[in-house]
Amino acid sequence: MASLIDRYRDRLPVSASTPVVSLGEGGTPLLHAPRLSARLRAEVYLKVEGANPTGSFKDRGMTVAISKALEAGVGSVVCASTGNTAASAAAYAARAGITAVVLQPAGAVASAKLAQARALGARVLEVRGSFDDGLAAARELSQRGSHTIVNSVNPHRIEGQKTAAFEVVEELGAAPDVLALPYGGGGNLTAYARGFAEIGAAPRFVVGEAAARATTVASAIRISEPAHAATVADAIASSDGSVASLSDDAILDAWHELAREEGVFCEPASAAGLAALRSVELPLGATVVCVVTGHGLKDPETASRLSPELVVVDPDPDAIEAASR
Ligand code: F0G
Repeated sequence: MASLIDRYRDRLPVSASTPVVSLGEGGTPLLHAPRLSARLRAEVYLKVEGANPTGSFKDRGMTVAISKALEAGVGSVVCASTGNTAASAAAYAARAGITAVVLQPAGAVASAKLAQARALGARVLEVRGSFDDGLAAARELSQRGSHTIVNSVNPHRIEGQKTAAFEVVEELGAAPDVLALPYGGGGNLTAYARGFAEIGAAPRFVVGEAAARATTVASAIRISEPAHAATVADAIASSDGSVASLSDDAILDAWHELAREEGVFCEPASAAGLAALRSVELPLGATVVCVVTGHGLKDPETASRLSPELVVVDPDPDAIEAASR
């Protein structure tokens, strides 16, 4: 498939001279979810963003942000991250031949994300502090001019991420009635709202945030001060939408449901959209798109901890039969 930038070039801030840094992002599956549909008495589709090259939706924004950085002659980018932005920045920077410095809250990032950013050659710095502390430092560095920030406060990130809204409408042939997604910093909702608005679509936005923002099990959305809070509030109000404040149990129930009932293995934060959907009244038969933001393999520790004990058997058919019941 063509790069995301080539597919939507006329709606992105690029020109013929922008060097396109792509890893084959976008074009992710929109899966009908029959069991969730029956349960919610709606037509539910899952936008599986974990199918992006580095395993999360961040790649849509990163292809644009890194292409624009390369065009501007930037040699080094910086981001603060709970893990996915870091992995994505690392991959696209490697592809572009520039340096990525990633600031991660020490001890609070899922192991696969950390391994990913390191393997991809980023300069990974564990910050003694939270994601929010790291973001403040990244903004400061960017203001000094030594590094370009590639968090979603970089407008090119939002531009790239808005393409997910285009894909949803193309694939459904119409706007969905409801779009559900997790709410961490709010960059993704900002991007969807812009994308839908640009093509005259107006779904109701239902977002899920962790009630315990600073400590949630959903480490990807461990963010205390959402950078896009004002835009999120506007998008929710103008779409007659809602923000659900979710317990960890509610997030993990939705995570189990996605895995066991639909075969979609995501990281815990990615289930917050479904958890939010369960907390609202949906019009009967509504078309609902639930964005599943990141791949389950990103957070193997949590997945293992929440799954049944491993059973060890001898390679003996009787023992295996007994153990399979
Ligand atoms: N889902 C996943 C898997 C994420 O990694 C993030 C954010 C979100 C949802 C929330 O999106 O911030 O646009 O509202 N991850 C960032 C990171 C913070 O550093 O990877 P948002």
